[in-house]
Amino acid sequence: MCGIVGYVGPREAAPILLQGLARLEYRGYDSAGLAVLNGHGLETRKLAGRVAALGDALAREPLAGACGIAHTRWATHGAPTARNAHPHGDCAGTLALVHNGIIENADVLRAYLARAGHQLVTDTDTETLVHLIEDAPGDTLEERVRAALQHVVGTYGLAVLSAGEPGKIVAARRGSPVLLGVGDGEQFVASDASAVVAHTRSVVYLEDGDIAVLTRDGYRVLDEQARERQPQVDAVDWDVGDLELGGFAHFMPLRGRLLQEEGDVRLGGLNLPADQCGRVRRIVILACGTSWHAGLVGRHLIEELAGIPVEVEYASEYRYRRAVQPPGTLAVAISQSGETADTLEALRTARAAGSRVLGIVNVVGSTIAREADGGIYLHAGPEIGVASTKAFTSQLVALTLLGLYLGRRRGLDAAAGRALVEQLDALPDLVAQALTAEEEVDELAARFAHAPNALYLGRGVNYPVALEGALKLKEISYVHAEGYPAAEMKHGPIALIDENMPVVFVAPRDPVFSKVVSNMQEVKARGGRLIAVTTQGNDDLRGLVDHELRVPVTAPLLTPVLTVIPLQLLAYHIAARRGCDVDRPRNLAKSVTVE
Ligand code: F6R
Repeated sequence: MCGIVGYVGPREAAPILLQGLARLEYRGYDSAGLAVLNGHGLETRKLAGRVAALGDALAREPLAGACGIAHTRWATHGAPTARNAHPHGDCAGTLALVHNGIIENADVLRAYLARAGHQLVTDTDTETLVHLIEDAPGDTLEERVRAALQHVVGTYGLAVLSAGEPGKIVAARRGSPVLLGVGDGEQFVASDASAVVAHTRSVVYLEDGDIAVLTRDGYRVLDEQARERQPQVDAVDWDVGDLELGGFAHFMPLRGRLLQEEGDVRLGGLNLPADQCGRVRRIVILACGTSWHAGLVGRHLIEELAGIPVEVEYASEYRYRRAVQPPGTLAVAISQSGETADTLEALRTARAAGSRVLGIVNVVGSTIAREADGGIYLHAGPEIGVASTKAFTSQLVALTLLGLYLGRRRGLDAAAGRALVEQLDALPDLVAQALTAEEEVDELAARFAHAPNALYLGRGVNYPVALEGALKLKEISYVHAEGYPAAEMKHGPIALIDENMPVVFVAPRDPVFSKVVSNMQEVKARGGRLIAVTTQGNDDLRGLVDHELRVPVTAPLLTPVLTVIPLQLLAYHIAARRGCDVDRPRNLAKSVTVE
């Protein structure tokens, strides 16, 4: 969850590390710190708060040195204080370490280290690592890191400096992503590419069990058995402009994937030939949070287009359940980051039970993308805001492509395929139109910004959109919101409705529209304040609802891509009006790499 960046080369490290931390801040932002090696040994600065505050501290008291590591934290063990911020040091003050992940046997290690005379000064699990390295046998830092890690149970992505070996960074990975940025006469290490892409596009992804040694002139990667391996160098195919606030959301590059005449799609990385599509008897979708909501929409899409039964599981529940997995089950893990610990473990569980696994992932080269047998990249560009938005709409499109691909190999006729391809092709323009409702949504936000609760209701393929609208509101504006299938409301939540309760209906013109209207009547009869997201040209809600937001017309199955947009905007404007930090909501992190 936290962000790690390290640099060794000819330049001053501190400004490069600060810039890298700022790019990583979406991963965690409750405290930050850095350590630099120079002629005086190791110097560390850390504080509770944002990277900008660390920048101010360094402006007042600069740190010189051309080799350093830095960290932005999302607290797991111990409060977000300066003391608990990384880097952590050993007793002698010769080591500095930054860590992402969780040391599960930290209590045992702590007791052991205290008995051995170590002074542990923080509440973190990470601190145990640096003291273990202090005592570990070995002639070089990498040997000591390897020896220390033998005693560790848990996950880590880490980087260490030693005053005894200036000009060297040692990094290690187990369960938390680490990559090397390969420069010309300078090297980088980071928890994700956004921290290094301003300097180099050439990256090496470490595998679990790897230890890497970086010096100004190059890097070495040693595998679990301490054998040197020659890793592949990958090219990052996006650039720093995509990380800036001005960098506009890409819409998934649909056109290269749509085959108009055939009414089909081209999915290069799926690795699922036609005969295998025919053998799929059941699909299980594994995901968390917003990606899980996308999975719920995916169930409708795949069942309708391909006629395959689909189950959608919370990855965190699935991995600890003895899920029955009959032969012919295809598992699909959906994850924006590709690093969510629960989703990754669920994928491994499904594979161990004999399933082929696909990944629908945004971050290229992420762990889920690399472990899946095949999959679809979203190519939505880096998503920096913590709340998932463009990744969600891109996930819906990717799931449509998957449904269409499977469907066309299982009897969906070309004419139906062509009709859907046409609608998909039109979608980017429709999304652009839906985004023009911004002003209207803001007016609505002004009315409802101070409501303490909200209910979101939808049916069919738009029920998950109601869940997603509620999630967006609660996570960025801290307003309590519930999403429900509209017809379920009368089995309980209806008791909450009075004249103070905003009720948002996701009600495009689709096959269940008239049913949703009945549910609206039920709310109206109890005095609730109705807001509807409906389709342009639909006048049937006049006089029934208090406010309408309209989206362009598309195929019913594709409506979630459009109906979610006013809900994302509504959450955004309510949060902004309440003075919340929209991009970095409290307590959250972009990439949840702990279970
Ligand atoms: C909500 C949100 C989270 C993520 C969830 C899974 O806006 O972003 O609910 O969707 O943590 O993350 P990924 O998709 O990276 O696996």
